[in-house]
Amino acid sequence: MIQKIEGAYPAFVLHTTNTTYLFRVRKTGQLEHIYYGSRIHVASADDLAEQHSVAQGNSIAYTQEDLDMTLEDICLEMSGYGKGDIREPFVEVVCHNGSTTTDFVYESDAITTGKPEFETLPGSYAKDDEVDHLCICMKDKNEGFVIELHYYVYEEEDVITRSTKFINESEHPVSLRRLMSNCVDFNEADFTVSSFHGNWIKEMQKKDIVLTAGKFVNSTFAGWSSNRSNPFVMASRPGCSEWAGECYGFNLIYSGNHYEAFEVSPFDKTRFVSGINPQNFAFALEVGESFEAPEAVMTFSKEGHNGMSQNLHAFVHNHIVRGVWRDKERPVLLNSWEANYFDIDEGKLVALAKKGKEAGMELFVMDDGWFGQRSDDKRALGDWVVNTKKLPNGLKGLADKINAIGMEFGIWVEPEMINVDSDLYRAHPDWALAIPGKDHSEGRNQRILDFCNPEVVDCMTEQMRQVFSSANIAYVKWDMNRIWSDYYSPYLPAEKQQEVNHRYIMGMYRMMKTLMEEFPQILFEGCASGGNRFDLGILCYFPQIWGSDNSDAISRLSIQNGYSYGYPMNVVTAHVSACPNHQTLRNTPLSTRFNVAAFGVLGYECNLSDMKKDELEEIAAQVALYKQHRATMQFGDFYRLQEGNIYQWMVVSKDKRDAVGMMLQQEVKPNEQYVNFRAKGLDAETKYHFYSLPFKHNVKTFGSLINAVAPVHVKQDGLLHNVMAQVVKIDGETEDVTIYGDALMGVGKNLKQGFASSGFNDQVRVMTDFASRLYFMEAE
Ligand code: GLA
Repeated sequence: MIQKIEGAYPAFVLHTTNTTYLFRVRKTGQLEHIYYGSRIHVASADDLAEQHSVAQGNSIAYTQEDLDMTLEDICLEMSGYGKGDIREPFVEVVCHNGSTTTDFVYESDAITTGKPEFETLPGSYAKDDEVDHLCICMKDKNEGFVIELHYYVYEEEDVITRSTKFINESEHPVSLRRLMSNCVDFNEADFTVSSFHGNWIKEMQKKDIVLTAGKFVNSTFAGWSSNRSNPFVMASRPGCSEWAGECYGFNLIYSGNHYEAFEVSPFDKTRFVSGINPQNFAFALEVGESFEAPEAVMTFSKEGHNGMSQNLHAFVHNHIVRGVWRDKERPVLLNSWEANYFDIDEGKLVALAKKGKEAGMELFVMDDGWFGQRSDDKRALGDWVVNTKKLPNGLKGLADKINAIGMEFGIWVEPEMINVDSDLYRAHPDWALAIPGKDHSEGRNQRILDFCNPEVVDCMTEQMRQVFSSANIAYVKWDMNRIWSDYYSPYLPAEKQQEVNHRYIMGMYRMMKTLMEEFPQILFEGCASGGNRFDLGILCYFPQIWGSDNSDAISRLSIQNGYSYGYPMNVVTAHVSACPNHQTLRNTPLSTRFNVAAFGVLGYECNLSDMKKDELEEIAAQVALYKQHRATMQFGDFYRLQEGNIYQWMVVSKDKRDAVGMMLQQEVKPNEQYVNFRAKGLDAETKYHFYSLPFKHNVKTFGSLINAVAPVHVKQDGLLHNVMAQVVKIDGETEDVTIYGDALMGVGKNLKQGFASSGFNDQVRVMTDFASRLYFMEAE
């Protein structure tokens, strides 16, 4: 709900179910931010605003007519350069006369409902009655530039989004050097800022910093939203925990270079701005031209990080992810990459798919290697024609065979990239981003196609159209495997070279939108060497993203946990793979690999043809179990119960009738025998059957300790020991109780006592390093 408090200087109150956002027009025309937090009643904005009555020493008076304030020490909705506010600006321009000073003041406002589509960028979407819209028009007193500030209020999800449009209504061309999407000023300091950093196979590592002074910037120049610094950030008030306390979450619907800065001023006010990274950015606007900044997302919760995450999970599901796949259960897939890498042919792929089918998998994905002369990662990107040596019957021949087995068929593409060793490059050397006549620094032996050039976008769109319609293709993994260097578009003139990254991103979005609309039935999965472009922009087109090339279950704990702060788990895909793991060489139990991957969208990526019979049986049982709880796992509410040596996660179905929990122990700690599983999100009044599934321990888990009970001496790893390992299976502990929801959430389930060397029976919970358990909670 949006309310305008009329008056000579109006105020605007934006209410969601549990939050309020308030600002007013100052008598000097700036927009003064007054409040963002828990929902409040607002009778008068003026009575709630900060009280200024005398000028500060050593500060700039915006005007001699109004000496009671300086723009440096006031909370603002937006701010430019040069009129006294020396904090992070919202907008930066270079005017025709060289000046960088702007002076934006309130001009008009309009309140409507509904969410119009942006012209150049993706954005949130909603039915008209789901979102209220406020547009404030600001005009620059010096040159006449116009800035539209748009606010969209998603009441039910407690989310407000903002976007900005700059219109050059001056009489001269202008160079736009920065246009932020969001600016939130707080008249306090000491926020804990959490941001998510990493690298390849190490995405979304949460880092916290307490900001008492100075500036903290979370940004990327990788060319993409990147695995280096995700655009999602949080700001928590002192004392905020997972379950209680006040916390803000911010994100940006954008896939290029982004920028999020928190700055504490010497007056102890904190400013947050976010938008396109101004580094190496400039956009030339002729008279009458305009520029759209990406949409920013913000939420507030007084129920800790969990409350903030629940808001964003609902928002991303309801208003970012779209298309038929949004609410459709995602298939269990088998991907060929870690099974075969580039060494694929029809025979191998069909054999692998058959094994997948036997285990209950539903979708077979042929990864890299199927096109042109693609025998390794040095060639053929750009040549999207099937390699008939590997696939003599073409894509259709293979797809038909996979369909005949009873599985859907999917493929891998990387349509934004080009290898110098490709027919495409030989035909169009000027289609890659590179500085003509200069050495180019490559990444994974490849270059980025020049998506600033509409002809390149159209050509690649057409190539993909041909591929996607050449066979019965149910799924596409859209990959992208390098970061930016040598920023330069041969298509653009010299004076537009700082527009390259943003123009590329707009071209890329155009291609994604076209193909997603033309092939609505295809399940698209975004990928960028794993999570190098995991953002809300991509999620507007693709309902799921490969979270990381790292499929090691232990590495995945912090990666998936990191994503869960800002993204629902049904947009994060996760695969069970072979051990030793190909990224870490770590061995983890097959059960643990499944238990962790099942909390994302589950897939398998390993050579089932090489696996032992008992492993295949275990995998088939996992797939069957997952399907039984798939609706809960993919569309339930996700909770981070515990992080650290012991990780606990939980998912609860929307109707609270079905829940699944996971407990994982990274390292055995001696004589730490008691673990409590304290549930969340259940119905207090309902009785739940809390149970785990029966399983057996391998005799060898106990090593030579077996001699404490064996009637004859067993030599460790000797013949007898090996035979025993085949035939003797030892019952593991199980849980099986019926408990009220409030008790499960209050007391928690005290799990069976852990092993600590002094005794063992089937009531003792034996967990080696990296062992884990699933617990099921079903309403009676
Ligand atoms: C990237 C992806 C992998 C795989 C390879 C294929 O690294 O992240 O999953 O598809 O490319 O080359």
